[in-house]
Amino acid sequence: MFVGDDLALSGAASEVLGRQGAELVARAASSERFKGKAQSALSIPAPANVEADRLVVIGLGSEKDRAKLDWTTLGGFTAGKIGLRKARVVLDWQGFAGTARDVADFSLGARLRSYSFDRYKTKKKDEDEANAALTLLTADPTAAETAAKDAAGVAEGVVLARNLVNEPPNVLYPEEYARRVSELTKLGVEVEILDLAQMKQLGMGALIAVAQGSAREPRLVIMRWNGGEPTDPPLALIGKGVVFDSGGISIKSAGGMEDMKGDMGGSAAVVGTLHALASRKAKANVIGAIGIVENMPDGNAYRPSDIVTSLSGQTIEVINTDAEGRLVLADVLWHIQATYKPKAMIDLATLTGAIIVALGQDIAGLFSNDDDLSAKITAAGEAANEKVWRMPLIPAFDKAIDSKFADMKNTGGRHGGAATAAAFLKRYVNDVPWAHLDIAGVAMSSSPSEINRSWGAGWGVRLLDRLVRDNYER
Ligand code: BES
Ligand code: MN
Ligand code: ZN
Repeated sequence: MFVGDDLALSGAASEVLGRQGAELVARAASSERFKGKAQSALSIPAPANVEADRLVVIGLGSEKDRAKLDWTTLGGFTAGKIGLRKARVVLDWQGFAGTARDVADFSLGARLRSYSFDRYKTKKKDEDEANAALTLLTADPTAAETAAKDAAGVAEGVVLARNLVNEPPNVLYPEEYARRVSELTKLGVEVEILDLAQMKQLGMGALIAVAQGSAREPRLVIMRWNGGEPTDPPLALIGKGVVFDSGGISIKSAGGMEDMKGDMGGSAAVVGTLHALASRKAKANVIGAIGIVENMPDGNAYRPSDIVTSLSGQTIEVINTDAEGRLVLADVLWHIQATYKPKAMIDLATLTGAIIVALGQDIAGLFSNDDDLSAKITAAGEAANEKVWRMPLIPAFDKAIDSKFADMKNTGGRHGGAATAAAFLKRYVNDVPWAHLDIAGVAMSSSPSEINRSWGAGWGVRLLDRLVRDNYER
């Protein structure tokens, strides 16, 4: 249950506790010097005369604190204090003003906090077996239940994205990844999988070049959620799905190379978002497209100095085989804008180490050719607390990727690495309103938060769900 800094119990809480319970809380609070401050908690084991093994009282602070309450964070904080247990949560307090949406956000935060990836631990601890199960007791249970169901779809979308990022690449190779995505058909998503032969037929020379050093064939997966008017052009979400990035012939150094199993974080965000939209039956037309490849060194691998022809017809001189993500995205972006005439395209990619140098691990880089789309994404990021920061796209970055031998080269040198990568992508979007999110810093091993303790963060699902909710649903 929750209290403000006056420690007053709500009507519902008093009812659950009874008179003696209320006294118990007052005594425990004073003995533990619990003052009901925001983000503080009082935990009372084996409370006398209360029908529970443990009573957890969570502080919400002053009226001012409560006015700027973030419900998702509160849900995460609460789940963290309860641990993986069954619990009843009395979501009611003095001056309570939560809407059904707030209650939904609370349950979303709680679900995300209790996520853990332990599929490959053969020795489970007792607490791993337990399942967090929170029953929310609110003033309006029917409204809360509807909202919580809606939030559950989004939560499962984030969970799916986290699972995909956390999976090792020997398990999640392109074909298996595509198979998992095809399970979205159960939710009403149309899923089309293109194999190597089909991509060759189309002429996706850039994507195929990256994949050719791997023993595993690449896949291009296109998901379609048709929840809007049939005539309404779709919003297209595009993801980089490099299941493992060794760097290829321009091989990476050994230290930290294991993190490159997460180089498909952009694609995971797209898959998770389609899951969320379909689960909550979003009234919008949204396409998800992910290029899935593995970047490996091999006798058959592409090499620095190779010139490849992309689907667009533009030629690319390969300077560094570790700048592979942009080659994959170039063909997917081109294919999607030519085939589906989307009203806007947003790509997500763990594209450059340079964006981590620039912005760190708590905010993603946003590059765009459209101010309106940028503003919408920025606002959705604020609302979902998945923040983005707009970066510049000026002609100098485009000039930096001109090549001596081909139409362009795949790197622009040491300076402005995230921006020259974005300038490269821009050559494949024509005039479609487009935004590129460089999520290398936020997709994995980012700082732990109240709603995330997982290595793979599932970053982007909540932002994109919010973006669709606020701007693209009829
Ligand atoms: N997948 C990496 C970027 C990355 C780095 C993601 C660290 C997450 C954490 C990308 O394919 C890459 O290797 N980029 C190169 C580009 C360079 C060769 C122009 C980089 O950032 O060093
Ligand atoms: Mn790379
Ligand atoms: Zn990469």
